[in-house]
Amino acid sequence: MKCRKCGEKAVINMRQHKLALCKTHFLDWIPGQTQRFIEKYRMFGPQERVLVAVSGGKDSLSLWDILWRLGYQADGLYIGLGIDGGLNYSSESQRLTQIFAEQRDLKLHIVNVLENYGETIPEMAQRTTRGKGKPCSVCGLTKRHIMNRIAREGAYDVLVTGHNLDDEAAVLFGNTLNWIPGYLVRQGPVLEANRPGLVRKAKPLCRIYEREMAAYALMRGIEYIYDECPYAEGSKSIYYKELLNKLEADRPGAKLSFYLSFLQAKKNGLFAQAADPDIELLHTCPTCGQPTSAPGECAFCRMTVKIVE
Ligand code: AMP
Ligand code: FES
Ligand code: ZN
Ligand code: ZN
Repeated sequence: MKCRKCGEKAVINMRQHKLALCKTHFLDWIPGQTQRFIEKYRMFGPQERVLVAVSGGKDSLSLWDILWRLGYQADGLYIGLGIDGGLNYSSESQRLTQIFAEQRDLKLHIVNVLENYGETIPEMAQRTTRGKGKPCSVCGLTKRHIMNRIAREGAYDVLVTGHNLDDEAAVLFGNTLNWIPGYLVRQGPVLEANRPGLVRKAKPLCRIYEREMAAYALMRGIEYIYDECPYAEGSKSIYYKELLNKLEADRPGAKLSFYLSFLQAKKNGLFAQAADPDIELLHTCPTCGQPTSAPGECAFCRMTVKIVE
């Protein structure tokens, strides 16, 4: 197989695009595509300050690398969750993130959940009933809260995450199986800050396959944490990803077209009537100032208040 651009030996074949590329052209192509999607979905401009949420995984570190190469003003945020799982998951991912930032002389904010809120994520999950013993929902709530808090405190224009096409297709698949209109309306490449106290969010990698992000990190020589979060094992999202990959194997491009057709349908107004009032963030939390769906303290402040006091 030969590179479409130069005829040298190709190192990757992307069947959904009918495109094979050599290493040099692949390493060029990924940032080029990312730039295209940043513009297409109006995620942010060159003058805006970007905060990249980095987990130490391949997607978010590669995203930070790409934004840096594209010349954006992008700082990082790492959230120390206190997850060990027998593999030093959090401390190892923090170490790799710090090395990455130092190598490129980039600014990295670090927020440690234990130091800030008195408990690690697994401890918080044990104490509360949220998520029935599994820490993932406590973790998701905490990450969303901290990401928005640091973005506001640092006056960033936009917060970006490393969600790739496989992540987005799996979320979409779950929301479609359950037909949750409120979630479907809000899923997309950009979530505007349409409430006071909320920062715009964007996912510049939302159209790039996970496989290609892994290839990018590897070819770029980015050291990232290979392990998944130990609590992700057996999760629905991994199961949905496997199902979608089976579909993809028979029909190259199926994952991408599932996601893109959804975006098109939404653009055409399919979900226009479906805004779910329950998840509309109409109120402001008196403690943290972030928007919340009901009057009074937000779910995060209610969850952590016992410890902070
Ligand atoms: P996940 O929910 O683990 O699939 O991660 C999705 C995205 O959230 C990643 O690509 C990162 O941008 C961000 N993220 C996940 N974990 C962390 C963390 N510990 N600190 C900062 N950002 C994170
Ligand atoms: Fe949060 Fe796994 S529980 S990353
Ligand atoms: Zn080439
Ligand atoms: Zn709050």
